[in-house]
Amino acid sequence: MMDTFAFVIHPIDPKRDVSRKFPLLGKLLSEKQIDFFSTFFPPVYLSQIEGIRSQSTGKQIRGWFIACPYTPKRMMELPVETVYQKIVQTGRMAERLGAKILGLGAYTSVVGDGGISIANRLTIPVTTGDSFTVAVAVKAVIRAAAEMRIASHQATAVIVGATGAIGRVCAQMLAGKVAKLYLVGRDSQKTERVAREVLAVHPGAQVVPTLNINTVREAKLVLTVTSNTESLIHSEHLQPGSVVCDVSRPRDVSAEVAAHRKDILVIDGGVVDVPGPVNFNFDFGFPPGKAYACMAETMALALEGRFESYTLGKNISPQQVEEIDTIAIKHGFKLSGFRSFEKNISAEQIEATWLHAQAAQQSS
Ligand SMILES: NC(=O)c1ccc[n+]([C@@H]2O[C@H](COP(=O)([O-])OP(=O)(O)OC[C@H]3O[C@@H](n4cnc5c(N)ncnc54)[C@H](OP(=O)(O)O)[C@@H]3O)[C@@H](O)[C@H]2O)c1
Repeated sequence: MMDTFAFVIHPIDPKRDVSRKFPLLGKLLSEKQIDFFSTFFPPVYLSQIEGIRSQSTGKQIRGWFIACPYTPKRMMELPVETVYQKIVQTGRMAERLGAKILGLGAYTSVVGDGGISIANRLTIPVTTGDSFTVAVAVKAVIRAAAEMRIASHQATAVIVGATGAIGRVCAQMLAGKVAKLYLVGRDSQKTERVAREVLAVHPGAQVVPTLNINTVREAKLVLTVTSNTESLIHSEHLQPGSVVCDVSRPRDVSAEVAAHRKDILVIDGGVVDVPGPVNFNFDFGFPPGKAYACMAETMALALEGRFESYTLGKNISPQQVEEIDTIAIKHGFKLSGFRSFEKNISAEQIEATWLHAQAAQQSS
């Protein structure tokens, strides 16, 4: 019998994502109507996932995509208990399908206590996928910096959303790799606490907590990972030649940056290549063979036979991140080529971005 997993996704861009499963509804309903009706919709079975195969052991697994109908806005507005109930209902569908572990995608892991209450009500283990998301995001920033000929260890970096589950541990992992690190939060006590935690791991590091989003302009490397449902990083926040890794879904970086700032490399955080001839049997917006890091964490745990609630709650440790990274690498998951606003970025495009950055820096 093959080992199994399920992964919960939900509409992020309401019209686009509802159209992927229900083309007519996506066409007819406005974004506001989808937001409203999502409250009453039941969980939706999306597809069976086949063809994932470990590169090291040859083990194959089978999975399912299931959808919790709520939009991010709905998840943040509704009482947390109502949202938990809908996610648990979706999790029960996973149990009925025979999944041995459940991964929580996007806002289903952000809401409330980061999956703890949901795991307590289900019989199968649950993971948010945040540990592997951190591993992949930090690697992506450093690799993208190298592509843009930025010496990371001499650069100033910023983490926006540094007080969150993902941001907090990204801060601990990035602090040792850059010269100076700004931490942007929206609550001064929480942001200062994260800075103290970073200093405990990296004494002597230059770490500056702040509530001012304009600080982003001081940094060459930007990692943004907030739970804001609207974009909050615009052109005026970014210096020429900077690298921006946007892990948030919905995105933190405004689409206007991609359209107008040819001198900045914006990459989607958390895109990985999946080992084996995988077929998701559902278009979630990625080219064949690629998945979000949070999905990959669930798959890697299933390949490893680790049917446990690996990442739950908001306190992720760097050790957890390193361990899941080792497991995922062993089975053949790897950081994918870069993508930006749903499109692949070629080496030529990165070179062109670098040239635009040089021109912008000379003229400023
Ligand atoms: N790409 C992937 O594979 C992947 C995987 C998992 C999650 N995600 C995405 O990652 C994001 C964060 O997830 P998480 O689990 O870390 O969520 P989280 O624990 O709720 O953290 C989000 C943080 O963002 C902060 N925040 C919200 N608005 C802000 C603003 N305007 N300025 C500064 N900080 C702000 C919140 O501050 P407070 O603490 O003050 O509330 C919170 O600390 C979500 O968008 C999620 O969908 C992506």
